Amino acid sequence: MQTLTTTSLRIRKSQLWILDQQALPQRAEWHLCRTVDDLVGHIHALRVRGAPLIGLSASLLLAQLAEEGMPVAELHQALATLRASRPTAVNLMNNLDRMKIALEQRFHIPAMVQEAEGLVGEDRELCDRIATHGAELVTADSRILTHCNTGGLATAGVGTALGVIHRAHQQGKVAQVWVDETRPLLQGGRLTAWELGELNIPYQLICDSMAASLMAKKQVDAIWVGADRIAANGDVANKIGTYSLAVLAKYHGIPFYVAAPHTTHDPHCPNGEAIPIEQRAAKEVTGVSGSFGDVQWAPVDAEVYNPAFDVTPADLVSGWVLDSGVVTPEQVRDGFFRATR
Ligand code: MRU
Repeated sequence: MQTLTTTSLRIRKSQLWILDQQALPQRAEWHLCRTVDDLVGHIHALRVRGAPLIGLSASLLLAQLAEEGMPVAELHQALATLRASRPTAVNLMNNLDRMKIALEQRFHIPAMVQEAEGLVGEDRELCDRIATHGAELVTADSRILTHCNTGGLATAGVGTALGVIHRAHQQGKVAQVWVDETRPLLQGGRLTAWELGELNIPYQLICDSMAASLMAKKQVDAIWVGADRIAANGDVANKIGTYSLAVLAKYHGIPFYVAAPHTTHDPHCPNGEAIPIEQRAAKEVTGVSGSFGDVQWAPVDAEVYNPAFDVTPADLVSGWVLDSGVVTPEQVRDGFFRATR
């Protein structure tokens, strides 16, 4: 494989390295990924996270294993294991479907390398187009609220929702960003805050529960989020807490935009109810872990409900900003997402 660099992935001497998104922002630690177990462990621990990045890292690892001479039957097994590593983000399945086609070619090694490298380049391009389309919707002096992390860390390019914010800021239209800390795993507080700082975009970090009163005080002009899966009726699965923001936005008359590449669209999933939602460990809610250590505040035996994602019904979305352009609620009602793209 060729040398390759994104914010959070590197290929050096045909080896995959990943930036540890749990250690950030305190430490920038890179881990070498040699095996499927290595990567699955990183994905489970959210050291590798974000819908596009999960798919890209899995594809690059498969290409690496093919180059190292792993037999075809084992590559099929590796692909199946990676596919099952996280259930909600459909980018993983979409990318691996393409890697499977490459694996079935007569000369599967160059085909897989070309496909994996192509997916990275393509994601970079998709992010760029999303940023261009999305920035057109951002009005002057906008105070934008965002949730989770949708930036360069989560993609091969400028990001999805955060890419839009970045582009609009370059155009002088962003007054400031409200960053939801994004409990329980703090992707906003740890990662989005770090990325915005690196980009010199003014922001203020808030606890998730502060969003409502900010909206009531007319301090939020628009909400921009990413997606892990967009169903055929336009329902959107994204980080837990996204749905509450959408309900609040509707009540307060604030536009609520979803930015995602077409690789996040699942035409075979009829609606949000059919989207598999990952349930995660209790300890993520009973305390918190990070480069700062482990803290537990709840009773050790506390019963916990911890879905990683929720579903925002299409009715609450003002616009879906894809690489192909802005999709309106009318287009969605007319079946835009029912077609395969
Ligand atoms: O659990 P995570 O951190 O992988 O969840 C990520 C999100 O929900 C993002 O909003 C989504 O994947 C889009 S990233 C461009």
